[in-house]
Amino acid sequence: HAETSPADLIGSGGELHQVSGGSHPQMTTNQGVVIADDENSLRANPRGPTLLEDVSLLEKLQHFNHERIPERVVHARGAAAHGYFELTDSLAEFSKAKVLTEVGVRTPLFTRFSTVAGNAGSADTARDVRGFAVKLYTSEGNWDLVGNNIPVFFIQDAIKFPDLIHAAKQEPDRGFPQAQTAHDTFWDWASLTPESTHMLMWIMSDRTIPRSFRMMEGFGVHSFRLINHAGASTYVKFHWRPALGSQAVVWDEALKISGGDPDFHRRDLWDSIEQGAFPKWELGVQLFDEAFADSFDFDILDSTKLIPEELVPLRVIGHMVLDRNPDNYFSETEQVAFCTTHVIPGIDFTNDPLLQGRNQSYLDTQLSRLGGPNFAQLPINAPRCPMRNFQRDGHMQMGTPKGRVSYSPSSLSPTTERQDPVNGFVSFPAQESGDKMRVRSETFADHYSQARQFFFSQTEPEQNHIVSAFIFELSKVETEAVRTMMLSRLVNVDEMLAKRIAEGLGHDAPLVAAPTKFAARTDLATSPMLSMLAK
Ligand code: HEM
Repeated sequence: HAETSPADLIGSGGELHQVSGGSHPQMTTNQGVVIADDENSLRANPRGPTLLEDVSLLEKLQHFNHERIPERVVHARGAAAHGYFELTDSLAEFSKAKVLTEVGVRTPLFTRFSTVAGNAGSADTARDVRGFAVKLYTSEGNWDLVGNNIPVFFIQDAIKFPDLIHAAKQEPDRGFPQAQTAHDTFWDWASLTPESTHMLMWIMSDRTIPRSFRMMEGFGVHSFRLINHAGASTYVKFHWRPALGSQAVVWDEALKISGGDPDFHRRDLWDSIEQGAFPKWELGVQLFDEAFADSFDFDILDSTKLIPEELVPLRVIGHMVLDRNPDNYFSETEQVAFCTTHVIPGIDFTNDPLLQGRNQSYLDTQLSRLGGPNFAQLPINAPRCPMRNFQRDGHMQMGTPKGRVSYSPSSLSPTTERQDPVNGFVSFPAQESGDKMRVRSETFADHYSQARQFFFSQTEPEQNHIVSAFIFELSKVETEAVRTMMLSRLVNVDEMLAKRIAEGLGHDAPLVAAPTKFAARTDLATSPMLSMLAK
């Protein structure tokens, strides 16, 4: 046996553990026993039955049989890269987070881009939202900014997320389609969910057929809070802006590329980094206070709304550069676990009901996707600052802390109780009052103004693309009533827009505006539109 080099070892809990790979010249079993023959299994005679005694065959096949883990329930297809964030403008006035106040410091990070609805083997250029998730390994713990390439979302309340995804993913009986495009279930759900209208306008725009991951914006979507040393809170929206500008392909190109090279985006990201053309984004923030939040036409807790940059300009505070491809797709891109709850002192949540639901979802799904509670020990997920707590045991535990004490307080181990109420994470003490009830605030009720604003903010060719995209998608919907309902929603955005799409579909029935109320169920019960459809 050659000597094990340090490259073969990973450290955890003070112990070193060997993993496969590195510099060992010979093949071994997982127990380190050198394998004599990897070409032939052990047989009772050259033409006889294979023997159960062949432990190297069994180990090899058994390991292979368990190579797959569940793919992500959404955002299954992705590509990622390592890089860094460098702050150029301190936010010390607003936040105590070092990553937002220490100018010039480079914070290592890992960024994963993804499609949402397609499964792991789907095509890169499907029309879909793109995930834009960044894990920053800050000196105060991991901060994950788990965003998308569109600044708003389909729904206002996390309770609707499974419905959205069930409607968009492959249908339960037939297993297709895999992308959020052109099928009755998605458009059925969307047409009955007025709050999705603003997002639908973005989805039908060129934003959802990006030319490259390097040419996409990223958005944290929700309003978050920044908290400064004095404990004061400022609202913040996070934006990533690509140095190469936002660029898209056109739909015909997207279709051809999907057939010709389904790996188009991941190959582009990989190749550009290999060639030293490192992708770069500026990090911009929109900062605003309670007074602005109260004066804004929409609710800043509503993720179907954005805050126009004309009202709150973007302040650029630093940049992200991606300069290293992963060594191993599975260990890094597949096993990375982003989580909206990963925030650090100086950054906090708001009451956005979508964000609150996400805060439950990510860890929960990762417990099953990554096989139990110890996935934070995987090198791609582990913080790169000191860490210590008394969690122990569980599947795949790699830590081996010594001693008897795994609890607090303890007199047997005097160092166990160190907590830090000043520098540790303290939730912002927001005041809450009112009646506990299942109801959505009236401040979330306007679903059309920003949808309209978005459409008319586009250039004429871009508007034409939106119209064509609606015509293409809705032309694939087999159920006439679904198409009619969707057109009636679009009348509320703009009558001319709805007419153009109706014409493209050959839909000559008169267009009726759908009720503008936001609760789909109430809508259904009272809708003259629906009773008309029922006839
Ligand atoms: C991934 C849930 C809304 C961005 C995921 C995953 C779940 C999930 C379960 C899979 C995580 C994993 O297996 O590691 C939800 C729920 C939402 C929601 C319940 C709403 C209630 C959003 C929104 C955004 C977003 C609004 C963007 C702002 C992402 C991204 C990923 C992801 C980027 C992929 C992360 C990666 O690359 O590994 N989401 N999501 N999600 N979600 Fe959400």
